[in-house]
Amino acid sequence: MRRSGRRADALTLPHIAERAARSAGALLLERFGRDAEGLATKSTKTDLVSDADRDAEALIRDLLARERPDDGLLAEEGSALEGSSGLRWVVDPLDGTVNYLYGIPHWAVSVAVEDDEGVIAGVVHDACRGETFTASRGGGSWLRPSVCDDLSLALIATGFGYDAARRIDQARVVSRLIGSVRDIRRAGTASLDLAWIACGRLDGYYERGLNHWDLAAGCLIVSESGGRVTRLAGEPPGVCASAPGIHNALLGALATAEGDG
Ligand code: IPD
Ligand code: CA
Repeated sequence: MRRSGRRADALTLPHIAERAARSAGALLLERFGRDAEGLATKSTKTDLVSDADRDAEALIRDLLARERPDDGLLAEEGSALEGSSGLRWVVDPLDGTVNYLYGIPHWAVSVAVEDDEGVIAGVVHDACRGETFTASRGGGSWLRPSVCDDLSLALIATGFGYDAARRIDQARVVSRLIGSVRDIRRAGTASLDLAWIACGRLDGYYERGLNHWDLAAGCLIVSESGGRVTRLAGEPPGVCASAPGIHNALLGALATAEGDG
């Protein structure tokens, strides 16, 4: 018998998200290190996509069509469905595409499902390490962010966009922030930056110009672990996530670093 209704959703959505993320991760891992096929550029000549991204997305799209035929879908490589259930899946089939294409084992599959109140369940799957980070709204987590409460001792991650002018501006902000923190990391996979705050491998992360699919799962994973997430207003909008003990200090330092002065 097919289960339906809110309680059944609460039980099954994270499992479906995990299944989708792990299946796509297995496909990507199997091809990892081979020559890229179907390589093309997107927003700029440094913003890459290949058949790996497309095929991972198709696999997730097909799985969701079977398991959740009434739900909507928003995915990085163009899959978009309206849906009639009030739920929408938000998918980055390969976060860290550049790492993947260079053979750097730091990339992930990010799968989230949301309703009109926000993300209900999110999964970030790191196939290279065999690590899966999962959260459900209100479900808490066995993960814990770091206990860091001194920004000058905090390890902060960030990322850069694909547009050269934006990257130059982002580098200006980093150059002003780096003297106020322990060090900066730019590992190249936003969803893993977030998941790693949840488990204490990073103390904080910020970036502007990300897309919903980069953030949807990771932000829930941080907040359910007890970390803090703040959406940054402005153009382009951004996100700042961290261990609770440095959050206000990081927001303040970031505002100063981004200022004109
Ligand atoms: C990118 C990565 C990167 C971040 C970029 C994203 P993609 O996603 O998450 O870490 O700095 O802003 O666009 O293109 O590899 O899916
Ligand atoms: Ca991607």
